[in-house]
Amino acid sequence: MIIAIDGPSGAGKSTVSKAVARRLGFSCLDTGAMYRSIAWQALQDGVSLEDGEALGRIADMHEIGFSHEPGDPLPRRVSISGVDVTDAIRTAEIDRSVSAVAAAPAVRQALVAQQQRIGRAGNYVVEGRDIGTAVFPEAELKVFLTASAAERAHRRVAQNERRGVGSTDYAEVLADIERRDAIDSSRDTSPLKPAPDAVQMDSTGRTIEQVIERICALAQEKGVHV
Ligand code: DC
Repeated sequence: MIIAIDGPSGAGKSTVSKAVARRLGFSCLDTGAMYRSIAWQALQDGVSLEDGEALGRIADMHEIGFSHEPGDPLPRRVSISGVDVTDAIRTAEIDRSVSAVAAAPAVRQALVAQQQRIGRAGNYVVEGRDIGTAVFPEAELKVFLTASAAERAHRRVAQNERRGVGSTDYAEVLADIERRDAIDSSRDTSPLKPAPDAVQMDSTGRTIEQVIERICALAQEKGVHV
């Protein structure tokens, strides 16, 4: 079974996806981390972010891996061709570069194929932008999670402070979120938009716990044991 959680950056998808997966005994897949890993590799290799074909070759050539911390069933570490990039993909530089990478059709084609392979192997909560529309249009449950740009920027700053990576400057983070929203929603290939059959949830003014409860209740209606 697949639970698709789509929405703009900072809406709380990662926290919600992990918590829902934990509660339902599902695994979870962070597809944004995959686009970030390709952006990291492109910067590493000095590949131009405007060269969609070269970016596509990177996505074809390199395998992205997810691994677990001891004792934790959910994947925490991300690697590309065996190099651990868990922290390296959360920097402001990657934040700035990743939209261009995610807009390249060849990259999307390669990563969507990898995501489908991973997801079909079990019960997954998959988070991203196009999971309910393009990657798993047959997903049993689709959620489109949003929040105001201001709220998302506040959450992202708090998350970066906790992690000790990424910008903690509110104005910079807000500007980046607004810029990325515009690129992600207007690109030609799989723009960010809710699937027609997605349940839309606005998390502004709600606690993450309320959102998690609601999704678990919906999953239960679909026959999942909570
Ligand atoms: O969720 P995130 O901020 O880690 O995503 C990083 C970038 O990847 C963001 O610009 C949107 C893009 N992305 C995408 O286009 N499709 C996905 N399924 C996941 C992320």
